[in-house]
Amino acid sequence: MNKVKISSNAGILVMLLLLSTAQPKPCPPCLCEQQEDLRGWILNCSSMGLKEMPPLSSELCHSCHTINILHLQNNSLTTVPLGALDNLIYLKEVDFSNNPWHCDCSILYFKQWLEDFSNASLANLQCASPASVKSRALSQLTGNELEGCRKPQPIKCLDFFWRDFALIFVAIIVLILARCILQYSKKLTSQAARKLHPFEVPLLQIHDLEKQKSK
Ligand SMILES: *[C@@H]1O[C@H](CO)[C@@H](O)[C@H](O)[C@H]1NC(C)=O
Ligand SMILES: *[C@@H]1O[C@H](CO)[C@@H](O)[C@H](O)[C@H]1NC(C)=O
Ligand SMILES: *[C@@H]1O[C@H](CO)[C@@H](O)[C@H](O)[C@H]1NC(C)=O
Repeated sequence: MNKVKISSNAGILVMLLLLSTAQPKPCPPCLCEQQEDLRGWILNCSSMGLKEMPPLSSELCHSCHTINILHLQNNSLTTVPLGALDNLIYLKEVDFSNNPWHCDCSILYFKQWLEDFSNASLANLQCASPASVKSRALSQLTGNELEGCRKPQPIKCLDFFWRDFALIFVAIIVLILARCILQYSKKLTSQAARKLHPFEVPLLQIHDLEKQKSK
């Protein structure tokens, strides 16, 4: 009895899934409109209270990638996920103004995409949060001012500092040791020379004498 119930539930689920995938979803919840000159498509997602980017690059959004104009102004967007705009290869115009952008490190993708695409559409974007950059223009912010971008760097720097410091320290010790060994060996050879020649003839002369002998 239970088994039958489960399988019928599963059947309904599969039916629902089939229904939901079978129906075409033209870029929900935005409006797809043809341009007046019929040259391309406008995806109008403006003033829709969106809190997240609509899935422009996903399978859910049939032929969204062919749009030429994208309107996302006057929503509640705080960020654009990494790669979300990469598939829009026919895009000519965008409007992202009037959204409460959260300008932390994760907005870098969006900022760099816009810098590449059009400085003009980046110019009128303002950060709404975090507090440190509230009301600042997104275009004016550097990576260092975006929260979360800067933190890992000092740790790395410190790592480098200690590694270099250790290397330099080891190098100095090796140099000092080498110098000591050199001095000690010099001392030994001069002592040996003195033993060979009690009248303290400089080494060079001994060398010369030996040369003459061999001739
Ligand atoms: C986009 O849609 C909004 C309503 O959701 C409408 O007011 C606006 O005029 C449309 N914009 C364009 C360019 O069609
Ligand atoms: C912005 O969107 C809200 C609804 O989310 C709407 O009431 C308002 O009129 C829109 N403003 C502009 C300037 O389009
Ligand atoms: C956008 O602005 C930046 C700096 O403000 C500049 O380096 C870059 O060349 C500009 N890009 C375009 C396409 O105008």
